[in-house]
Amino acid sequence: MSSHIHTSHESVAGGFTETASDYEDAVRFNIEGAQRLVLCIPPGRYEDVLDVGCGTGWATQAVIDRFRPARITGVDPAQGMLDQFQAKLGGIEGVEITLANADVESMPVAEGAFDLVICSMAYHWFPRKWEAAAAMARALRPGGVMAILMSGRGGEQAYRDVIANVEPINHRWLGAFDGNLRNQSEMEDYLVQAGMEPIDIWMETRVRHTTVEAYMERMRVVAGHMIGDQSEADTAAYVAAIEAKLRERSGPRGWRYEFAKLFAIAVKPA
Ligand SMILES: C[S@@+](CC[C@H](N)C(=O)[O-])C[C@H]1O[C@@H](n2cnc3c(N)ncnc32)[C@H](O)[C@@H]1O
Repeated sequence: MSSHIHTSHESVAGGFTETASDYEDAVRFNIEGAQRLVLCIPPGRYEDVLDVGCGTGWATQAVIDRFRPARITGVDPAQGMLDQFQAKLGGIEGVEITLANADVESMPVAEGAFDLVICSMAYHWFPRKWEAAAAMARALRPGGVMAILMSGRGGEQAYRDVIANVEPINHRWLGAFDGNLRNQSEMEDYLVQAGMEPIDIWMETRVRHTTVEAYMERMRVVAGHMIGDQSEADTAAYVAAIEAKLRERSGPRGWRYEFAKLFAIAVKPA
């Protein structure tokens, strides 16, 4: 397990490459999120599937389990995540896997080539969400389906309240929540603007309890590149100050937080 947080303005991809080996342990909820997203895709034959922000392959795994497609292309700019993906899913018989180290906006994929585009817990990281939706829609054939799961507005408020009062204020990290999280109507706008017909868009908000250590570890794994904005020593002090405040605010069941997941299923008009 890597023990430090990114200390420079490195990219999201660099952050995910650094934490790739810890990712699977830290974000168990992403796995069942991907499974539930895939369960909500309309029944059908999906032979060519594109997994955008594929990470270590949880969404692809769920797609294989349900639809057994002939070909899956995974796109992610974090090589460390692609390496984990390849090791986990590279050898499944009858499913041809192609991986591309690329950003959603410059995916090396043919237009209109895919029956299904899936994007699980990555859309919130896309810096240009309109362009991302358009790029994913272009990859779909007419009649193809898009399935997105992302972090929703309203989540992590207790944590945001804490970091708003840890000084010096880390504006980059505090602002990341508003920059990333979205709600149903915002998602509907992205999809409609991209020429898609939304079938179902829904949000779930969950209350969870966890240990402060586990919560801090999850934040490091999924967002270390946003937290580490200063020198290594300053970052360590900043993280320690956050941790101390979370402990102060924790009860007998640990740290209580709310997490929102936004799901969307849409079809490209035939
Ligand atoms: C939380 S992981 C989710 C991975 C996987 N889909 C899953 O469900 O486990 C987010 C992934 O999005 C990728 N990502 C971040 N920015 C991206 C971008 N601009 N284009 C494509 N993928 C991106 C990251 O590298 C990371 O692997």
